[in-house]
Amino acid sequence: MRISCAHKGLAHIEVEELFPDVTWKADNLALVDCDLEYLEHVLEFIGSVRLVFEPLGEVPSTNIESVLEAVDKIDFKYLEGVPMRVKVFKIGVVDVDWKSEALERAAGSRIFSKLENPKIDLKHPEEVVAIVVWSGGIAVSRFVREIKASTITKRAPKNLPNSKGGAMKQTIAKLMVNSHRMKPGDYVLDPFCGHGGLLYEMVEAGYTPIGIELDSRIVGQAVENMNYLGYRDRIHLIHGDALSPPLRRGVIEYVVTDPPYALQTTTSGRTVEEIILQWLGTFTDKVVISMATPNESLKELPDRWITLKTSTDYVHKGLTRRMRLITNG
Ligand SMILES: C[S@@+](CC[C@H](N)C(=O)[O-])C[C@H]1O[C@@H](n2cnc3c(N)ncnc32)[C@H](O)[C@@H]1O
Repeated sequence: MRISCAHKGLAHIEVEELFPDVTWKADNLALVDCDLEYLEHVLEFIGSVRLVFEPLGEVPSTNIESVLEAVDKIDFKYLEGVPMRVKVFKIGVVDVDWKSEALERAAGSRIFSKLENPKIDLKHPEEVVAIVVWSGGIAVSRFVREIKASTITKRAPKNLPNSKGGAMKQTIAKLMVNSHRMKPGDYVLDPFCGHGGLLYEMVEAGYTPIGIELDSRIVGQAVENMNYLGYRDRIHLIHGDALSPPLRRGVIEYVVTDPPYALQTTTSGRTVEEIILQWLGTFTDKVVISMATPNESLKELPDRWITLKTSTDYVHKGLTRRMRLITNG
């Protein structure tokens, strides 16, 4: 799987959480071992994957002859009568002494000669034999799917009826939700939900989101956004205070949130850190929290809390924000 590396740390956390068996061939290329049904399911909501290939055979060296030998050994019966082409996918910076078109032509004619009813279609192929090349390796593969970033960005704040400058990018919202996996249907809480960016990605991942927002004007705007996206029946939205959440104990085992910044009026002059510490103190039962904090704040967690994973690689509202996955053990 070719990963978008715009938010590399979070992307790696997501892939490793969603797939049990991952080998990183390059920073943006993951080899995962899972059954097809599970793959299809995860591809419905994963945020970092852009291209999916099914390896047919790894090649011992990147020279053209080795690739052609590997092609010779692969059973391409599934291509009988199917319009196809060969395409090279270079992942990152690779050092090879051949031109992609030359390899595509040579491999294409090998496959052509192996089939009884070959059909080449360079413009609109139904099947693509992908020669995936990365620094240090090469594999002949079946191209499975491209996942466009636009499937996520259609829910971006700028594309919704209401947003404000500070709402986080939708891709980051998705990666944060996917940084810890729960069961489909489980309740997941965003206690500082604002206009609801994280709640939408919880819906997409198959959870039942609960959002809490203190500001009644923002609650109304979030409802408008949810109606616009057709999510209103799938999200529970509470006008209330995260510091005294009106929820039964033990219902929530996973929280994803982007807490307020110091400059917001709703924080009543307290620092972000004071608010977050007070809020963490409201959890008596075990919970896992995926949250974004300004890089400099909350250097130490209160007693009982531990960091499971952390990533510092993205910028939000002009600040580097740190994503942490923490638990109270
Ligand atoms: C950084 S924003 C969240 C942005 C959100 N992820 C989005 O997509 O719009 C933090 C939100 O927390 C709200 N807030 C601040 N204090 C709160 C509290 N004690 N309880 C609930 N919400 C609070 C603010 O009004 C603000 O909308």
